[in-house]
Amino acid sequence: MVAKSSAVLQTEMSVLQQLNTQHGGYRVKVEKLDGEMRDMIKDAKAAHADGGKDDGGKDRAATALEKLWSNGYKLVEWDGINPILLVDTEGTIFGALAGQPKDPGWSKRCMRLFDIMAEDADAAAKLPKKNTQHRRGFYPAIDTGVTFAPGDSKAHNLRLERKEAALVENKEALEIERSIQKFVETSIDVFAPRLYGYIKDHMQRLQRHPDYTGLRWNDPHGAMSGKTRNFPWCVATVPHRDVMNMAFAWCGVVAIGPYNAIYGGHFVIHNMKLAIQFPHGALILIPSAFLWHSNVPVRHEDHRASVTFYTSGGLYRFIDNCFMRESDLAEAKPQEYAKRQEEKHLRRDMGSCHRYTSSSTTIPTFVFAFLTVIINLGRPYLVRCYLLLSYGLIRLFAASKSLIDGIVFVSGSISTLIATK
Ligand SMILES: [Fe+2]
Repeated sequence: MVAKSSAVLQTEMSVLQQLNTQHGGYRVKVEKLDGEMRDMIKDAKAAHADGGKDDGGKDRAATALEKLWSNGYKLVEWDGINPILLVDTEGTIFGALAGQPKDPGWSKRCMRLFDIMAEDADAAAKLPKKNTQHRRGFYPAIDTGVTFAPGDSKAHNLRLERKEAALVENKEALEIERSIQKFVETSIDVFAPRLYGYIKDHMQRLQRHPDYTGLRWNDPHGAMSGKTRNFPWCVATVPHRDVMNMAFAWCGVVAIGPYNAIYGGHFVIHNMKLAIQFPHGALILIPSAFLWHSNVPVRHEDHRASVTFYTSGGLYRFIDNCFMRESDLAEAKPQEYAKRQEEKHLRRDMGSCHRYTSSSTTIPTFVFAFLTVIINLGRPYLVRCYLLLSYGLIRLFAASKSLIDGIVFVSGSISTLIATK
């Protein structure tokens, strides 16, 4: 029942097939899972209609876990601190159980955020249905940030009703959420630096555009455009994919609250058939637009909330299309439009961690090692010394980025990254 406990979880992702869209981009086909997920969603709806009660004296969390084990899901025991990477068969990192910062106050701050949200839980429960019964589950949620949705002609802030706005204005909570967002973004930069560069570059172009300086960002210094606050008492998502997010971008989920992660609150990735223990204060990063995911409920004496950070897919298209809709670009700048269509097929390789596996810095180092061998062919001792030195240089260059960004923020990230090369 327990998945292998190494720092890398590997999957064949056999259910994922990619098909060209009409403009040469890629979309993911997950038909094989759709039926199974539909049944699970139906079960979750029935359990909710039944008041989410325990099942014949058995805790609802235990019942949910038993169902997963009987369907062949595997348990990942995770302390919520040491990072574990999600890696496909080609060695591409496509997600990470990132952990939490080496900061003694982190857990307390996250619990303070939970307490602030708990004070608003009753008011949140009275929000309209769109907030309390949505495709992600049956708990109150409020989205804030910047977006560009189908039908929009400009990037804009998500519109909040008065009651929603009142529930997301607490300054202390916003401050804590900003520090969490900083950790989310730093972690993406550590595990998928090219992806983070892509996200940051796009959002900075929008932030600097003279027509959009009035947008209100969740974190004015951050790059993730959207945030969802999921209110107590028992946040547990039903199987879903966040299809409006950018397809290959990672979404960050931070779980908070007083609950025992051994007995409930697991993060389930259905494409991998894994149920991951997900303790309070921990961060998980996944490409949420194409992986089916959900949570196991917590025990009825436990309480759980969460905060998620993401970027809207529409924003990237809008920015790439010279801050226009695609149809407007085709009319106004046909050459630019043709160029954008050409670029679409290149995007499928983005989001991986190539900086650590094929860096340009490794090529000169290999050339240096090769020349050294040729020059010193008659002196085997010197050859061995130079080869050892070259090997050390390769390791140092490849890990240098993580040394700068990761050592302070992500405990264990260095050894994990090196171990995966
Ligand atoms: Fe999600």
